[in-house]
Amino acid sequence: PHDLECLTIEQLEKIAADRMDKQTRDYYNEGADSGSTLAENRSAYQKYRIRPRVLRDVSKIDTSVDIFGFKNTIPMGVAPTAMQKLAHQDGELATARACREAGIVMGLSSFSTTSLEDVKGVLGAEQPGVLQLYLFEDREESRGLIARAKKAGFSAVALTVDTPMLGRRNLEMKNQFRLPRHLKSANFDRGGKEDGVVAEEKGDEASKRTRDRGDSRAGYHDGARWVSPTGRITFHSHGPNPTLNWERDIDWLKQQCHPEMEVWVKGIATGEDAILACHHGVDGIIVSNHGGRQLNGALATLDALPEVVDAVRSMNRKMPVHVDGGIRHGTDVFKALALGADFVWIGRPVLWGLAYKGQEGVRLCLKLLSDEFRLCMGLAGVTRVDEIGKEYLAKINRDGF
Ligand code: FNR
Repeated sequence: PHDLECLTIEQLEKIAADRMDKQTRDYYNEGADSGSTLAENRSAYQKYRIRPRVLRDVSKIDTSVDIFGFKNTIPMGVAPTAMQKLAHQDGELATARACREAGIVMGLSSFSTTSLEDVKGVLGAEQPGVLQLYLFEDREESRGLIARAKKAGFSAVALTVDTPMLGRRNLEMKNQFRLPRHLKSANFDRGGKEDGVVAEEKGDEASKRTRDRGDSRAGYHDGARWVSPTGRITFHSHGPNPTLNWERDIDWLKQQCHPEMEVWVKGIATGEDAILACHHGVDGIIVSNHGGRQLNGALATLDALPEVVDAVRSMNRKMPVHVDGGIRHGTDVFKALALGADFVWIGRPVLWGLAYKGQEGVRLCLKLLSDEFRLCMGLAGVTRVDEIGKEYLAKINRDGF
C-alpha cells in the first residue's frame, strides 16, 4: 500500500522539515557557504535525459547488484550521516532495521548516536555494514575503532577524505550547533554521563580523567603550525584532520583493515585522485563532496563522475566507483549508473524518513526510490542493472535542447 501523504522524496522532505526542530533541520539540510554545490548536486541530474528503448519484454526485471558478497536489492545504499537520534529517538537502530528489511547496505558514521556493535547487531551476519571513518591523529583511538568494527563484522571502512578542515556552515555556526546533552557520540563516549557523575562524587582518579575529557578543543592552525585537538572526541573537535595524506595514512589503514575489511575512500572528486587511489591499492572509491557541506563551489558529484570513471578505466583496474549527492529519484540512480557509477548512496532522504516516522519512514524512503528505479528500468527497456550504460542518456544544454 502507498502512503498517500507522501508519494515522493520531495514530499518527504517537506513533511520532515515540519517535524524537526530548527537546530536539527538546519544541521541536516544546509550546505557550506552559499549552498551552491548543495543545489548543483541535485540540479546536475536535470542536465540529462533518458533515451528509452521499447519492445524489449520487461516482464522480468532484476534490480539487484552484488556488493561485499551480498545481493543488494538495488544499486543503492544508505550513506553514513552523523547523529541520527536528532531526527528520531530510535536513530541508527531504526535505519538499520529498515535497511535489513529492504536488503540494503548501510553506512554508519563514526559519529553515530548508537554504537557500531548495536547497529551491526541489528543488521545481522548477512547484511553488510560499512563503517565511515574519520582518521584521528590519536592513532590509538582509531586503531581501537577499527578493531571493534572488524570484530563486529563490518565489511569495509570508508575513510572520509574531503574533511581536512571543516566546511563553513553558516547556520551551524549561528545556531552554535552541538549534540544535545541527552545524546552521545556512542562510539567514543562509552562511559555515559551518569558514570561521570558517580566518579566525580567519589573524587578519585577516574573523576579527574572524566573532567579532563569533558572539555574538547578543536585543532587549530597556530601560524603555520597545526595544533592537534584535545579532550572529549566530538565531530567538531576531532572530525577534521588536516594532516591526512596518501603515503602515510592509506597504507596504515590497509594494514589495520585487510584482509577482513575493505578500505574505501569517500570524497574523491577528480580523475587525478582516482588514479592515486588506484596506485595506493584502495578497494573502492566514492565520488562525493559530502553533500555540499565541505568545499562550496566544488563540482556537482554527477559532473565529476565521468572523469573519475574514465581515469579508473584508464588504469585497467576493476576498482568500483560509487557516487553520492543529490539523489532524490529513481531516475537519478539510473542516470548515475548510465554515467559509469556502479552504485549510489543516499544521505539526507534517509534522515527525512527518520524524522517523519522512524523505521517506518526510512522504509518508505527506501521503497519510494526502489520502486521508482524499477519503473525507470522497465520504461527505459532494461532488465538487468549491468545493461545500464551511456547509450541510455542524452545531455541537454542550458536551453533545454
Ligand atoms: C553527512 N555526511 C557525512 N559523511 C561522512 O563521511 N561522515 C559523516 O559523519 C557525515 N555526516 C553527515 C551528516 C549530515 C546531516 C549530512 C546531510 C551528511 C555526508 C553523507 O555521507 C553523504 O556524502 C551526503 O549526505 C550525500 O548527499 P545527499 O544524499 O545528502 O544529497
